[in-house]
Amino acid sequence: MKIIKKVAQLQKEITKLKKAGKTIGFTPTMGALHKGHVTLAKQMVKENDIGIVSIFVNPTQFNEASDLKNYPRTLKNDAALLEKAKVHIVFAPSNEEVYPKGLKTTLKLDLKGLDKRMEGQFRKGHFAGVCQVVKRLLDITTPDSLYMGQKDFQQFTIIDQMIAALKIPTRLVVCDIVREKSGLAMSSRNSRLTGDHKKRATIIYETLQWIKKNKNRYSLSDLKQKALDKMSIPGFKPEYVSIVNGNTLKNIRKMGAHDYVVVCTAVWAGEVRLIDNIILKK
Ligand code: PAF
Repeated sequence: MKIIKKVAQLQKEITKLKKAGKTIGFTPTMGALHKGHVTLAKQMVKENDIGIVSIFVNPTQFNEASDLKNYPRTLKNDAALLEKAKVHIVFAPSNEEVYPKGLKTTLKLDLKGLDKRMEGQFRKGHFAGVCQVVKRLLDITTPDSLYMGQKDFQQFTIIDQMIAALKIPTRLVVCDIVREKSGLAMSSRNSRLTGDHKKRATIIYETLQWIKKNKNRYSLSDLKQKALDKMSIPGFKPEYVSIVNGNTLKNIRKMGAHDYVVVCTAVWAGEVRLIDNIILKK
C-alpha cells in the first residue's frame, strides 16, 4: 500500500494505472476510520482493480471551529486498517494540496434544494464544503466508482445530484450502514462519546426501529413527536426527526403516496452530534 501526500504524485500514478487498463475505485474519508469505513474500502477493493482511500479533514465543511479542532486524527491507525483491507493507495494531502492558492474550487451548483433540508437547517454551509471537497477529490482521482455510506443519507443524495448536474463520469456506490452490536451506527464521532452516553445512544436506533414498526399506527406528525420525546433522555437533545421522500428529501405528508421513504435524525449526545437513518420503504 502506498501513502501519497502530493496531488502531482497521485495523478502520475493514476495516469499509469489507467494506461494499463485498470479500473479505479475511490472512497473519500476524513480518517478516524472504523468498521464502517473498512467495509466500504473492502467492497471498493473487491469491485475495482485499484482502490484509493483519501484521508482529509476538510475544513470547509465544518460550521463550528471546535468541531474541526476536536475531530479525531489517527493517520497511523487508519493506514494500518486500510493496509489490512488491501487498499492500494492512501491519499493523505495537506490543506495546501487540496486548496492551492489560485485554484478556484468553490462550486455553483443546482442541488434542487436537497442541501436546504434536515442537516442544511442546522449546519449552514456544510454541504457546500462537502461538494467542494468531493468534486476536487474526484477531479484528482478520476475514479470509475465512488464509494459512500448510507449513514450520511443526505450527503450521498447530494453527491449523486452533483454527479448528475456536472455530468461527472463516475458511478456512485452506496454501502449499508454498519452498526455496533448495540445498534448504534458506527461513526468517527462515537470515539468522543463518554462510556455512559455511548451506552444510552442506542436509544437512537431503537427509536428509528420503533418508527418503522409503528409507521402505519400513528399520523406522521405524532410519530415524529413521539420519537423526539423518546430520544429526549437526560444529556440527549434530538435536533430533528424527518420522514422524507428518499429522492427529494422533502418531508412527506402521507406514507402511502411515496415508494421511497426514509426517516433521518440528528441527536446531540452531550457534546457529540450523531446522525442516523433507516429506510422505511423502498
Ligand atoms: O463523510 C465524510 O467523511 C466527509 O463528508 C467526506 C465525504 C469525506 C468529505 O469530506
